[in-house]
Amino acid sequence: LNNGVARTPPMGWNSWNTFGCNINETLIRQMTDAMVSSGLRDAGYQYVVVDDCWMNPNRDSAGNLQGDPSRFPSGMKALGDYIHARGLKFGIYQAPLDRTCAQFFGSYPGATGSQGREAQDARQFAAWGVDYLKYDWCSPSGTIDDQVRTFARMRDALAATGRPIVLSINSNSIHTKTGPQRDWGDVSNMWRTTEDITNAWNTGQTNGYPMGIQNIVDVTVPLAARARPGAFNDMDMMEVGRGGMSDTEMRSHFALWSILASPLIAGNDLRNMNAATRTILTNTNLIGISQDPLGLQATQVSFDGTRRVLAKRLSNGDVAVALFNQGTATTTISTTASAIGLSGGSFTLREAWTNATSTTSGAISASVPGHGTVVYRVSGGPGTPTSTPTGTPTAVPTTV
Ligand code: DGJ
Repeated sequence: LNNGVARTPPMGWNSWNTFGCNINETLIRQMTDAMVSSGLRDAGYQYVVVDDCWMNPNRDSAGNLQGDPSRFPSGMKALGDYIHARGLKFGIYQAPLDRTCAQFFGSYPGATGSQGREAQDARQFAAWGVDYLKYDWCSPSGTIDDQVRTFARMRDALAATGRPIVLSINSNSIHTKTGPQRDWGDVSNMWRTTEDITNAWNTGQTNGYPMGIQNIVDVTVPLAARARPGAFNDMDMMEVGRGGMSDTEMRSHFALWSILASPLIAGNDLRNMNAATRTILTNTNLIGISQDPLGLQATQVSFDGTRRVLAKRLSNGDVAVALFNQGTATTTISTTASAIGLSGGSFTLREAWTNATSTTSGAISASVPGHGTVVYRVSGGPGTPTSTPTGTPTAVPTTV
């Protein structure tokens, strides 16, 4: 979506993965402070996103949305001011039909969705200083055309406010057709590719709830052609630092979200991160690959069912390459400079986790532990890049 924002994948934090409905203004302020003190803000994380369950179940007498008075007694404008005063941006959640997901499931009272009130609600968000709207279709009903029309109404309403606001949509919640049904870049800045992520490596499904890290990668790799500045495949808020995976798996999770140009929205409790989690979330090599101004998503160079090679062209002519081992045993994964679109006689490889550099005349290879990912930034020595990565991406499915 060409609305001037999300020219690279948005980075931030969202309340849902760790806190679900148990949110209030004290918590969000603490997380805002932790984003600063932990170094995440300085590493590039910007948006503090308040997910479902912030609203008063009743609109005010003029029909305006309001924050829940017991959870957000200072009001949503004050929360936005607090976030902005710390150099960060304010994100909020809403639903396009008559109720939010928590309201749909009965775990939160009311029916405060934006259906039919898009213009009024967009103006309210802008007045609160909202910079990012997560807009969550939570209903089993509605055709794809209904979804497009409905999401586009909020797109237009946000544009009419004149405030630059990232529009993040999810067309998948409890929807029978989960998955990447279309390129949503005409109506949004980012769109979820699957049902909800969970804190696990593999849930054994590519079209259902919940989804593991490996499963989301399987669904999102074929969608590379859709990513571009202002429009990104959203692989969901991250589970790094949530305790359900090994450090190797968490590093893979972060590396893959980065090279696949997914938004990087942390979902852990930022107030008590351990060193491993903080080191992963602030890896400057991977954040540089994620935030490259070309806004490309890595394409698949090769995949034999276990060893997957992905490559992403970068704005200075370098190419980032991920050697991802989907199996459980350590294995060697190899590709070549020419296979990732580089020509020349000598290349420098910089490994993202260790920062170690080496030179090669073309072979790119590493021993990769089970569920591990080695990422190199490949610089072209005397040669110059001649083309985009040559791997042929799988055709983008129109339905799944
Ligand atoms: C479904 C979404 O996929 C989640 O990320 C979260 O926003 C919940 N709804 C909130 O109810």
